[in-house]
Amino acid sequence: MNRAEISITTESPDETRAIGQTIGRSLEAGACIALLGTLGAGKTEMVKGIAAGAEVDGDVVVNSPTYLIVNEYPGRVYLFHIDAYRLSGSEELHAAGFGEMCDGRGAVVIEWADRVEDALPADRLTVHIEHAGDQSRRIRIATSGPRSQRIADAVK
Ligand SMILES: Nc1ncnc2c1ncn2[C@@H]1O[C@H](COP(=O)(O)OP(=O)(O)O)[C@@H](O)[C@H]1O
Ligand SMILES: [Mg+2]
Repeated sequence: MNRAEISITTESPDETRAIGQTIGRSLEAGACIALLGTLGAGKTEMVKGIAAGAEVDGDVVVNSPTYLIVNEYPGRVYLFHIDAYRLSGSEELHAAGFGEMCDGRGAVVIEWADRVEDALPADRLTVHIEHAGDQSRRIRIATSGPRSQRIADAVK
């Protein structure tokens, strides 16, 4: 069940990254962030901000894992960055070790999360990014449990 939806419009990639940074600052091991939105919406921009907020070293390049299924970034919280765009489905995600990624040793951020929705933990922060103009994006954030609610509270 989704509670307390937050809606924010950003006018630049920097503003989207800043929201990501706030999310990253309040990220705990065991958290799951599900990113939704079409190509070019700004999911990866958001992940760059999340990584900064999670104190991933600035020298680490944060990009969609195009050929690998998951990129890993050590930080205050260990980050697993998944892009599900090319995955056939949840079986492939599980085969890549998704179960272990969610076991609490780090936080998981998934682009194209709708492609593997059945595999996602029940308590997750869902971040939906939509084009609202050339440089503007509508970002909607929904929670589904106490862990995601704590993150959303930091964004409000
Ligand atoms: N308000 C905004 N928020 C995020 N990205 C934006 C915004 N305005 C323009 N952009 C541009 O949109 C693109 C988003 O790309 P990216 O984050 O890779 O998208 P996705 O991962 O969703 O495919 C980038 O080129 C970025 O500069
Ligand atoms: Mg991307």
